Amino acid sequence: MGTTPFLRNLWYVAGWSADLAPGDRVGRLYLNKPVVLWRDMDGQAHALEDRCVHRAMPLSAGVVEGKALRCPYHGLEFGGNGRCTRIPAQDKIPETAKVRAYPLVEKQGIMWIWMGDVERADPARVPNYPIHEDPTYAWRSAHFPVKGNWQLLVDNLMDLSHLPYIHARTIGGNPELHFSTRTQSHKLPNGVRVARHMPNSEPPPTYVDAAGFQGRIDRWQEIEFEPVLIRIHTGACEAGTGAYEGRRDQGFSMRGFHGITPETETTTHYFWSMATNILTGGVPDEVFEQTARTFREDQDVLEMQQERMLQCPDEPLLDIASDVGGRHTRQLIARLLREDGDGDGRRRPHPAAAPATPQSELTP
Ligand code: FES
Ligand SMILES: [Fe+2]
Repeated sequence: MGTTPFLRNLWYVAGWSADLAPGDRVGRLYLNKPVVLWRDMDGQAHALEDRCVHRAMPLSAGVVEGKALRCPYHGLEFGGNGRCTRIPAQDKIPETAKVRAYPLVEKQGIMWIWMGDVERADPARVPNYPIHEDPTYAWRSAHFPVKGNWQLLVDNLMDLSHLPYIHARTIGGNPELHFSTRTQSHKLPNGVRVARHMPNSEPPPTYVDAAGFQGRIDRWQEIEFEPVLIRIHTGACEAGTGAYEGRRDQGFSMRGFHGITPETETTTHYFWSMATNILTGGVPDEVFEQTARTFREDQDVLEMQQERMLQCPDEPLLDIASDVGGRHTRQLIARLLREDGDGDGRRRPHPAAAPATPQSELTP
């Protein structure tokens, strides 16, 4: 079980708009490629190859000058389209004086980048996340470096039965509850949807702190994967008040956005936001802090898994019932990899490829 290759022709989260002010530039690796993200003084964000065409100096070490990014070494300047706009002490700018420009779209507080074939980048297909614009929610965002292959993070988020073990102090709840809960997984045209309902259950610590539940709750976890991001809606209402019939206005909702962008084969950018519908009493900050604590616990797990997988690359992994969502996700990813080729643009089957299975429902 080695590392899963990259899907190239997708919109990936490059970062949070709010983290890049005019004049800012930051160098990052996406899918093993060095990229500089920068915002010009007119407020437009750009993504360029982070390597000066002159002598390979990282442009992220340079400075933003008006609508250009200037290399710190000999002062060549580049526009957002990657073309060199100025060579000091030289009038003629050769055709070849350019760096690669990556399509970048900003929407709903998120910067999306396209690392694949430029002619296939369609801004109309940038994923939608209206929660970031919904006034009934408050949200906070973060960027966590993860020392693990991107697929490990997908698996982690698609199978929340790890909550009572890894996250006992925050969003966990007791293990029996999680293992008596049915996991339903459905394939979507371009995704996978997993739902787990925990009726009439004890509220975990985060829920009591945020929403002040006194008695038992009807709790839900609804997870949607599309390549490669995951939306997770979790929450609860007082037991018996109609949460499963859609009457959730009086309840507590946490909406998690999880952008999963490969950095290298063994490291991943994890861009996540947490939104909650209780806006008073410092709840959005508190929920964010608790979530950050929770995700740090996942970071540790992924790092340990990755280390072991590198030591034993050929050993198989076992699926259990709660992996039904993760398995559907892996099947979809394997199909996309077959269609799309791997990180080098070659087409080849992926070892995780498995025959498609019909929609399924599993009861552990
Ligand atoms: S390396 Fe960039 S200007 Fe010389
Ligand atoms: Fe977790």
